[in-house]
Amino acid sequence: MTTVPDNKNPFPENVDQLFLNCRVATMAHGRYNIIETAALAVAGNKIAWIGHMDALPDPVSNTARKTDCKNRWILPGFVDCHTHLIWAGSRAKEFEMRLAGGSYADIATAGGGIFSTVKATRAADEDTLFDLASRRMTHFLTQGITTVEIKSGYGLDLTSELKMLAVAGRLQQAFPQHIEVTFLGAHAVPLEFAGRSDEYVRQVMDVMLPEVKHQGIATCVDMFCENIAFSRKQTRQVFEKAKNLGFAIKLHAEQLSDSSGAALAAQMGALSCDHLEYLSDEGAKKMADHGTVAVLLPGAFHYLKETRVPPVETFRQLAVPMAVATDLNPGSSPVFSMLPVLNMACLLFGLTCEQALAGATFHGAAALGLADCKGSLARGKDADFVIWDVDTPADLCYLTGITPLKQVVIGGKPIHP
Ligand code: NIG
Ligand code: FE
Repeated sequence: MTTVPDNKNPFPENVDQLFLNCRVATMAHGRYNIIETAALAVAGNKIAWIGHMDALPDPVSNTARKTDCKNRWILPGFVDCHTHLIWAGSRAKEFEMRLAGGSYADIATAGGGIFSTVKATRAADEDTLFDLASRRMTHFLTQGITTVEIKSGYGLDLTSELKMLAVAGRLQQAFPQHIEVTFLGAHAVPLEFAGRSDEYVRQVMDVMLPEVKHQGIATCVDMFCENIAFSRKQTRQVFEKAKNLGFAIKLHAEQLSDSSGAALAAQMGALSCDHLEYLSDEGAKKMADHGTVAVLLPGAFHYLKETRVPPVETFRQLAVPMAVATDLNPGSSPVFSMLPVLNMACLLFGLTCEQALAGATFHGAAALGLADCKGSLARGKDADFVIWDVDTPADLCYLTGITPLKQVVIGGKPIHP
């Protein structure tokens, strides 16, 4: 091994682990940024160095644990920036109803859809919800997802929303993945408030938000701005309160129709606007002006048999960052892996493989306000990455039905298998 001194990227002294003979796509700045014949050094839970094998000092380190990656690919762990991972019950019957012609909105309006999940989630105790969600978190690990956002929103009353958030807190303690918790109390107008949505919004603002803040169990507030859920005016009211309390905000916007929710959320400083099939040019411009991340959810598009695609070409032209996420939920996106989402993002929305992978890593982290530590591989960032047994990163978008995963490393620790 020869030593090539690299003054810009000096090799650190205290290295715990070395991953040798790998190919790395760092995904820095949302590009592949490939380093062939690479080595990656970890110190503690951080990346200490990445570079060419030839640039390693000789001898490299006597104490570091060494892993020969045998020319496999290393990419950042997937950041799933939009999930509803905690729920009870099943919506398979609703799936059958929709196959027979029922629409998502009609089923919700008739008290099914989200409301059937609310009923089951309210009825389930905390331990049951924790067990169900734990199985999903464990499965996510096997799919290379190392950061997960989890929303409440199937409780829709103070007790049940707090129960969901308590489950999210227990998952944070129990699992190695990083979890960001989002309060989605304004996901739907609960049936007991039918026709009185303003009253429910007051409950969210005056009772739920202050309690969630007091308990410190969520960092972000999301809501569903849509004609079957909450108006733009109600969205503004909830977001004003949320911001005053110090929450970050994000929005389910323009999923089924154009309510101009995304423009409002962008102007109010939202981290992201999500779904966006019905986004107007004006809305896209506002998102560009405010650096709002567009979170694309092709699983929901696919399961709802939507035909209108989000304005991907406009996002490209305006340099709006595009994240992709599973939107894991029992109704519109029962999708338990990022791999099919990458495939759908390419085939249904027209993303390139590089854009899809950047969406599931670099831009996903930005959608959670975590771009400084997650979603790309560079010195000083968290050592969360996956070793993949593939010929090229594009295989992760191209292949379906297999998970060619060799190892998941989180915070420098080999976690799975
Ligand atoms: O992201 N759009 C609203 N919320 C979820 C679906 C929730 C459900 O159907 O249970 C979504 O698609
Ligand atoms: Fe969602």
